[in-house]
Amino acid sequence: MSDGNIFLSAKGIHKSYSHAQGELEILRGVSLDIREGEALAILGASGAGKSTLLQIMGTLDKPTQGEVTCEGRDLLAMNDDELSKFRNSEMGFVFQFHHLLGEFTALENVMIPARVAGENPKDAKEKALHFLDFMGLADRAEHYPNQLSGGELQRIAIARALVNRPKILFADEPTGNLDSNTSVKIQDLFFRLKEEMKLALVIVTHDLTFATRFPKVYRMKDGQWI
Ligand SMILES: Nc1ncnc2c1ncn2[C@@H]1O[C@H](COP(=O)(O)OP(=O)(O)O)[C@@H](O)[C@H]1O
Ligand SMILES: [Mg+2]
Repeated sequence: MSDGNIFLSAKGIHKSYSHAQGELEILRGVSLDIREGEALAILGASGAGKSTLLQIMGTLDKPTQGEVTCEGRDLLAMNDDELSKFRNSEMGFVFQFHHLLGEFTALENVMIPARVAGENPKDAKEKALHFLDFMGLADRAEHYPNQLSGGELQRIAIARALVNRPKILFADEPTGNLDSNTSVKIQDLFFRLKEEMKLALVIVTHDLTFATRFPKVYRMKDGQWI
C-alpha cells in the first residue's frame, strides 16, 4: 500500500517561538517521510503541534531547525517565488474553514490556482469544471459561497486544492466544522480521490474515527510523536 518512493521528507523538525517568558518549543525533533500516493493521518489533541508540522511540510512556514526535502530538493533553500510556484503545482491544501472568496462563484474560486499557474481561462475553466463534477457539484458552478451549504463549500475547497493535480494533498481538520453526516461524506470523498488521483494524502485531525480509517496513523503529543 505504501511502497512508493519517498516523496516528501521532514527530518528533525524543531519549531520554537521566543516569548517574554522565554522559549516556547512547539515541535521537538519530529521526522516524517511521506511516500508517493500514501495516505496517513496525524492525530493529536489541540495544541499538540499538528498544524505547525503540516504548515512546515507544506512550505507555508519554516522550522527553527531541521530539513524538508521533496524528491531530493531542499525546500528550505528555495526563495519565496520558487516556493509559491512549487507549492501551487505540487501541493494542495484544505483547511477547517473553506477560505473561498465570497465575491467569486464556485467555478471562479476553483479556477484561481490554475490561472495563477498560467493556464488560459478556457483550460482553467475546463479543469475547474472537471473537479467540481468530481465533487458532485457541477450544478453549483455558478453559485456564490453564501448560496452554498457547509459541506458544499468544503467540497469546492477540495476541488480548488485539486485543480492543478498536486502530488500531495494536505488537509488540516477538514471535517472539523461539519456535522457528523456531512463529515463522513467528506471523508469518503478524500479516500475516493486519493484512489483515483494517486496522490499522497496527509490529514490532520483530532477525530479518532476519521484517523483510524487510514492505513497509517501518527499520534502527536507536545510536539513529539508518541
Ligand atoms: N505563531 C505562534 N506563536 C506562538 N505560539 C504559537 C504560534 N502558532 C502556534 N503556536 C502554539 O503552538 C502550539 C501548537 O499549535 P498547533 O500547531 O496549532 O497545534 P494543533 O494544530 O495540534 O492544535 C500551541 O500551543 C500554539 O499556541
Ligand atoms: Mg491545528
